Amino acid sequence: MPKNFVVQSHKGPYEVNFTDDLLSDVRPLSDGEPHFIVDEKVANLYSKELSSIINHSNTILVQATEDNKSLDQVSNIVNQLVSNKIRRTHHIVAIGGGIIQDLSCFIANTILRGVRWEFVPTTLLAQADSCIGSKSSINVGDAKNILGTFYPPSRIWIDPTFLRTLHKDEIHSGIGEILKVHAIESPEEFDRVGDSFELMVNDFAVLENFVYSALLIKKRFIEVDEFDVGIRNIFNLGHSFGHAVEAATTFGVPHGIAVSMGMHVACSISVAQGFLTQEHATRMQCVLAKNFSAYASTVIPVEQVLSALLKDKKNSSTELGLILPIGKNVEIQKIMIKPDRQFRDQCTEALAALN
Ligand SMILES: NC(=O)c1ccc[n+]([C@@H]2O[C@H](COP(=O)([O-])OP(=O)(O)OC[C@H]3O[C@@H](n4cnc5c(N)ncnc54)[C@H](O)[C@@H]3O)[C@@H](O)[C@H]2O)c1
Ligand SMILES: [Zn+2]
Repeated sequence: MPKNFVVQSHKGPYEVNFTDDLLSDVRPLSDGEPHFIVDEKVANLYSKELSSIINHSNTILVQATEDNKSLDQVSNIVNQLVSNKIRRTHHIVAIGGGIIQDLSCFIANTILRGVRWEFVPTTLLAQADSCIGSKSSINVGDAKNILGTFYPPSRIWIDPTFLRTLHKDEIHSGIGEILKVHAIESPEEFDRVGDSFELMVNDFAVLENFVYSALLIKKRFIEVDEFDVGIRNIFNLGHSFGHAVEAATTFGVPHGIAVSMGMHVACSISVAQGFLTQEHATRMQCVLAKNFSAYASTVIPVEQVLSALLKDKKNSSTELGLILPIGKNVEIQKIMIKPDRQFRDQCTEALAALN
């Protein structure tokens, strides 16, 4: 088991606990006066292990769908918390993936002007990436993640046992973010993950070690730029193109898999713009392609990708802000690029190279 560690935040330090027996004894989650917000699917899959939580009078089950990351669902959950008589001295315990995290974090931050919350991430993406970093996001209409806050949990419990019931796509989605974080650290760290790719997919003990190293790398960045106004921006590697792929396929590609595609496109664009050698691009793209192989033949309409790219938050009024791997040290940097004819042609080629 990886070692527990502490993350510093504007709300004080919070602990990330690794355990492989949370499911055999969930009593530590019931300390104090908890209100549980639980992914309904997780509650069904682990009905025996989580029975004391599922039968707790202050438990709210939520379907983890992107549509449910809405203000309607926020008010629905708040209504239930109010009828369960939540008080400022109580706390919320969220059990689920990124969707349950976003809803619970947003509500914990705003209900009664803030109650403490704890998080049990049950997806690989949430364990390896989103659980630390303080962010919450809610969708409004078509605007994804448009409302949000920074409000870290007071404790995180990571039990790899949960990963055993995840669909293969969800494993690859989490690996997409693991690859991103290690690419940010160094080419050597990216290669270390790449060299273990097959092992990681098939062996949860190996996977757990990469969850740990991904969190330790991310911890360093969020401790200096928790509010994402500077260096933390590079964690958007693969995300401009990744979000564009998600939008162009109406979310037909899981998030972290779209991020792997986005990193592949970022490498191609960086080569075409003269920032990266083909050798480095190929080295990374071989690994990335393995991670999105199940989606490689997805039809991705170029025009829709380009129009989604133009709406990215990192753009200026005339230029795209892209996070690209640069130079002989493959440093991850933000580069401003004019979306001219040449860039559009480069995008068309980069997208064609995905399949
Ligand atoms: N706040 C942040 O920092 C942050 C960061 C990245 C992503 N996100 C958000 O997270 C969401 C994606 O989250 P995600 O990928 O963790 O997954 P998710 O919460 O969307 O869940 C994916 C699917 O896996 C199921 N599931 C969850 N745990 C399971 C388990 N142990 N076994 C079997 N099935 C399980 C869920 O019910 C759901 O069907 C997006 O809405 C994204 O915007 C937030
Ligand atoms: Zn992401």
